[in-house]
Amino acid sequence: MDSRKFRNALGQFPTGVVVATARTPNGELIGMTMSSFNSVSLDPPLILFSVHRGTLSFAAWQSVSHYAINVLNEDQEQVSNRFARAGGNKWEDMPALTSPSGVPMLPNAAVVFECTSHARYDGGDHEIFVGRVEAMHEHAFTRGRPLVFFEGRYRQLASAATAHAPPPEAELLHGW
Ligand SMILES: Cc1cc2nc3c(=O)[nH]c(=O)nc-3n(C[C@H](O)[C@H](O)[C@H](O)COP(=O)(O)O)c2cc1C
Repeated sequence: MDSRKFRNALGQFPTGVVVATARTPNGELIGMTMSSFNSVSLDPPLILFSVHRGTLSFAAWQSVSHYAINVLNEDQEQVSNRFARAGGNKWEDMPALTSPSGVPMLPNAAVVFECTSHARYDGGDHEIFVGRVEAMHEHAFTRGRPLVFFEGRYRQLASAATAHAPPPEAELLHGW
């Protein structure tokens, strides 16, 4: 498998961008930008993301029982870059909100999923983390325009005016 070709092919699949955030058992704040976030199950409510085994914070991610998935808005490119840099204190001068269960969360995220660690699976050079969603925090005033990652670059959704009209009799496309 030509890994460059494989990466380029994967880049044809647009994703959103999230920052996973947590506090380790010894009190350190960690955070990582990820595009591997996805939904898994509605009942129970499960999500997943995968963490590269080579990241400096990999062992710290394995140690946490709670974390938050912060879905970034289109104006949070700098936040994405800050939490994508290896090492250093990614939280320096960054205000953290704290959930009732003590999980650090980013202000102004489109939506935050507060999770408990449900399972971890082997994913080759990554480990797949499955989280159970315990609470959601939505900031109505910032909602609606997510940061998009496509072909290795940040993108913005076109305006709502160019979106396809919803099917008249169904509110959800094919039931989704
Ligand atoms: C848009 C974007 C998406 C990313 N997605 C992932 C991902 O899904 N999994 C992952 O392990 N790293 C991903 N990364 C890279 C990590 O953010 C980066 O390696 C990490 O922050 C390094 O942290 P460290 O200090 O633990 O080494 C992504 C980076 C960017 C810019």
